[in-house]
Amino acid sequence: MRKISVKLGIILSALFFTFVMVISYTLYSFMVHFYIKQVATELLHRGHSHAIVLANHFDHETMHHVAMMEGPAITMVVILDNQGKVLANSDPILPTQRKYLIPMTGHPASMYEEIPLETDWEHSAFIATRSPILNGNQLLGTVVMFSPTDPIRDVVRFLKVVLLWFGLGMIIVGFILIFYLSSRITKPLIQMKAATQNIAKGNYGSELRTDRNDELGDLAASINSLAKSLQHYEQTRTEFLADVSHELRTPLTYLKGYSEILLQDRITNEEEKKEFLKIIRDESIRVHLLVQDLFELTKMEVASVPFEKNEIDLVSIIEKIAERLRPAYDSDKIELNLENVSDSVFIEGDSKRIEQVFLNLLDNARRYTSSGGKVEIVLEKSETVVVIKVIDTGMGIPKSELPLIWKRLYRVEKSRSRVTGGSGLGLAIVKKIVDLHNGSITVDSIENKGTTFTLHFPIL
Ligand SMILES: Nc1ncnc2c1ncn2[C@@H]1O[C@H](COP(=O)(O)OP(=O)(O)OP(=O)(O)O)[C@@H](O)[C@H]1O
Ligand SMILES: [Mg+2]
Repeated sequence: MRKISVKLGIILSALFFTFVMVISYTLYSFMVHFYIKQVATELLHRGHSHAIVLANHFDHETMHHVAMMEGPAITMVVILDNQGKVLANSDPILPTQRKYLIPMTGHPASMYEEIPLETDWEHSAFIATRSPILNGNQLLGTVVMFSPTDPIRDVVRFLKVVLLWFGLGMIIVGFILIFYLSSRITKPLIQMKAATQNIAKGNYGSELRTDRNDELGDLAASINSLAKSLQHYEQTRTEFLADVSHELRTPLTYLKGYSEILLQDRITNEEEKKEFLKIIRDESIRVHLLVQDLFELTKMEVASVPFEKNEIDLVSIIEKIAERLRPAYDSDKIELNLENVSDSVFIEGDSKRIEQVFLNLLDNARRYTSSGGKVEIVLEKSETVVVIKVIDTGMGIPKSELPLIWKRLYRVEKSRSRVTGGSGLGLAIVKKIVDLHNGSITVDSIENKGTTFTLHFPIL
């Protein structure tokens, strides 16, 4: 049910209804008032013109004339003398009209003026006015005019009906328009609701239209991009889980197979037994390291890991790691040189994690370089940044693979690192740590020539 559109429609309709009512009523009152005033003024004018004529010729013939003139009109004239005696009348006088036939005599001079006698058009059968017949200051008589109120009531009734229909029509048209418009406004909302429900169910396919140039269009665009990133997230998560289980399967198969053989007690040769146990130990170490790295990475990704922010000396960290790895380099007969690494360079960060960055990079450089090769660490610094390059003369990485090496569990050639024992998490961890330090890392490589990793960190 389109609840919003109904609510919106009802609220707007109520407002519109009140508006039309007020407008119609105001219009009605105004028109009635205007019309009555018009009728009364006209009647007063008529009486006035009669009074002027009679002031000049206050005789029988003129009175007769005036009464005759008024005869065919719906209005009625009565001419009184100073005593209140009726001198002439255009129509027969009704009993209800008697009380208005009072002469002006005896009133103060200020009362000698034209006034409406009766204006209650709703209850009285007529409205009435009176005008004095004045010859200079001398009052000769009074003209009383009557106009029936039936036609007035007819006009007002007609006006009422017209305005009522007008209001009703406005309201009907308004309601239709309002409900149409509010359903137009809420239609995209309903579509978005359906879209988000679909997304929640895991259907990311449907695209919302974003051609509206307003907040609703923006919202639709946000929902679309949310769906896209959720889709991406779910895809990478699925891939990642598949990779992890694949990665675990191989060592676990070894562990299971070799331990079963040992348990069967069929192997009597002590040397062979030792060989199997060594395999079991090595594979256990592999699994252990893999799980440790994965855990490390996941912790950094959900940002729940305590991340220290200290002033740390990059140079001493690099020297320390180089010394730690030197024995391995020596036994692989690979040269390890530090260029321009002398003065301290301070950055803000977590020393254990920065150590891990160089450990992983130097470990890779050694592993993917054959004996007789060379690895160099070059440090350059400016006012604000320090640049560290780790350059090796190893096997290199194919160009097409370069963007992929940062991915978790990604290895250029699976067979290549089965021998070297890597799991493809090292660079993912490096990238994450560098990002957390507001630094950057890039890679350049030429196959069979060598690889260079370049790091930037802001200097304190
Ligand atoms: N210096 C390098 N020279 C050539 N190839 C490299 C170099 N560094 C990394 N690679 C390639 O990139 C891949 C990803 O490196 P990464 O360090 O993430 O994983 P790994 O070394 O295979 O395993 P791990 O570091 O988790 O033990 C490696 O498998 C390797 O093929
Ligand atoms: Mg590595």
